[in-house]
Amino acid sequence: MQYTYSTLLAALYLLQSANGLRNGIGLTPHMGWSSWNVAQCNAASAKYALDTAQKFISLGLKDLGYEYINIDDCWSLPYRDGSGKLIPDPGKWPNGIKAVADQIHNMGLKFGLYGCAGQKTCAGYPGSDGSRYVWSDVSQLVEWGVDFWKYDNCYTPCLDNPPPQTCGRPAGNSRDWYAPMRDAILSVQDRRKIHFNLCNWGRDNVWEWGNDYGHSWRMSVDNWGDWASVERIGSAAAGIAQYSGPGGFNDLDMLYLGSPRLNTNQERLHFGLWAIAKSPLVLGLDLSKISNSTLDIIRNKGIIAINQDSLGRPATTFVPPGQPGPQWGKIYPYWAGPLSDGVVIGLCAGTSAGTYSVQFKDVPGLGDGTYTWEEMYTGQRGTGTGISFWIDLHDMRVIKVKTS
Ligand code: GLA
Repeated sequence: MQYTYSTLLAALYLLQSANGLRNGIGLTPHMGWSSWNVAQCNAASAKYALDTAQKFISLGLKDLGYEYINIDDCWSLPYRDGSGKLIPDPGKWPNGIKAVADQIHNMGLKFGLYGCAGQKTCAGYPGSDGSRYVWSDVSQLVEWGVDFWKYDNCYTPCLDNPPPQTCGRPAGNSRDWYAPMRDAILSVQDRRKIHFNLCNWGRDNVWEWGNDYGHSWRMSVDNWGDWASVERIGSAAAGIAQYSGPGGFNDLDMLYLGSPRLNTNQERLHFGLWAIAKSPLVLGLDLSKISNSTLDIIRNKGIIAINQDSLGRPATTFVPPGQPGPQWGKIYPYWAGPLSDGVVIGLCAGTSAGTYSVQFKDVPGLGDGTYTWEEMYTGQRGTGTGISFWIDLHDMRVIKVKTS
């Protein structure tokens, strides 16, 4: 049997697809900023992107690992050009996209954009529509130098015709309409490695297959910036922790720090829980208006280091002896997860203020013995066989226990 060059190429390609998007990027959860929670459509502009990039530098966020400046929905005109290309809205991108991406790269940062697997994005702008425009759209991303592509799930195949914005009765599995974009992104990876963020809102148990399709996947509907969202998303993360690892992470959605509906305790728990659950840490606020208390939280080096630990394994809940188990939809107090040089323990006063204590021997990954620990929000340190903290309602303590 004769093997032609193209047969070999096809075989190589199939081999790559079978390995999904494990292409050396996204080995730790991505960190950055997204325009959506800032001012929805109004923030999808060159001005917001560049101002935020400046702030990443002046506030020291870049040095802490915040890297991606991601523009969400509404950056294009509401129609494609005659050859099917997406057109950046000239009112928002007076010099086009590439000029902005270049400037952001020159600052040592990365630039992301947003698209949709359906006919339209959630806000009604052109989507890639299954496989129809994927190759054309990805070639534009390469041309512009885009590093990150969030891919939404609005106006996708639906038993209701035409498909509505959010389909209640999908006509198929969303895997089918995420596959063409994954393949297109894979096919250009020699020219540009693009982080592929699946945003199907946790449908079709995306955590079970997300690893073969993208570098991160939204596991829930949106974070609306209130305590109920933090509870809904944070509590659901515990049950799917095993699916995250280097190259593919559960995305708990953008951080809503700076939301007027969260107090400082709730902001600490929001940030700390997302971090130990190994969610991407994507800020969603206007950095020119950030308060000092929020700034302190997002600049917490110890918590960022836990999120970015090379092991990439999320913390999940554990039940200490004599304690009641988790309650559905509520933030459970006791969390733990492995780190490359220790164990992280998260203590969350999700339902009531009180004293929260654990013996290290009861913590997964630890055992009998004396350990040295450090609490990342208060800076307290100690050595012993356990820990005990008074925690105010909705606040959190993040403790790193060293094993080496
Ligand atoms: C969906 C996504 C959000 C955001 C908006 C934009 O709701 O889940 O994160 O991207 O669309 O329209």
